[in-house]
Amino acid sequence: MRKNIIAGNWKMNLDYNEGVSLFSEIVNMVKDERKGDQLVVICPPYIHLNSLAKLGGAEVKIGSQNISDNESGAFTGEISAKMVKSTGAEYVIIGHSERREYFAESDELLAAKTKKALEHHLNPIFCIGETLDERNNGSYYEVLKKQLLHGLFSLTEADFSKITIAYEPIWAIGTGLTATPEQAQDIHAFIRSEIEANYGFNVADDTSILYGGSCNPKNANELFSQKDIDGGLIGGASLKSRDFTDIIRVFNS
Ligand code: PGA
Repeated sequence: MRKNIIAGNWKMNLDYNEGVSLFSEIVNMVKDERKGDQLVVICPPYIHLNSLAKLGGAEVKIGSQNISDNESGAFTGEISAKMVKSTGAEYVIIGHSERREYFAESDELLAAKTKKALEHHLNPIFCIGETLDERNNGSYYEVLKKQLLHGLFSLTEADFSKITIAYEPIWAIGTGLTATPEQAQDIHAFIRSEIEANYGFNVADDTSILYGGSCNPKNANELFSQKDIDGGLIGGASLKSRDFTDIIRVFNS
């Protein structure tokens, strides 16, 4: 059975004290809102991983926003999967469009990062999405198919079953524009059919596919009521404890 997941991506926001304070609020509020089988994950900057993993307990899981594709060694400024795992974090976002664009992360690099995460028992939240141009010129199915093929489809079935996918249309991220529930459902169904073609019905049916891109308490209900949308990857709204928990509440209603 696939899981319902609400994940927050704090991006490069909040210093140490601000992070602990927001996270404590979130944990307290989530305790009352979370359903037993629902997963809540917060992905803060690296500096927060260890302290938040201790504070989160069973209520809120922790993930990093990136890892190195290397195991260890002379890679100044990088953080390895093993290091992230040692903080108590259990998830990692891989292939966010900001990393693809600003840090030139290729599908091949992201495939290597995914394998490294799995080697160290971190669960990848793997992001795919198209630009506005690709949406407008109709090439988006091909773009998404290529991201899946090169980023994920060389994994074994056992490894693929540990992947969560986040569909994040780039034109909707941080812009206030949201995919309509119909647009999002259409793509989520497409992603699931691609998974089915590669790994079979059961794996496809068990894979959680999250929507991301200007998700907020107002639009969450319609998005999450689509049959192939299993939750959200939330950016801006995860920086406000009330909005984030309202999204969880909407999801449960
Ligand atoms: P947003 O970001 O919710 O602020 O649009 C989503 C994301 O980038 O993961």
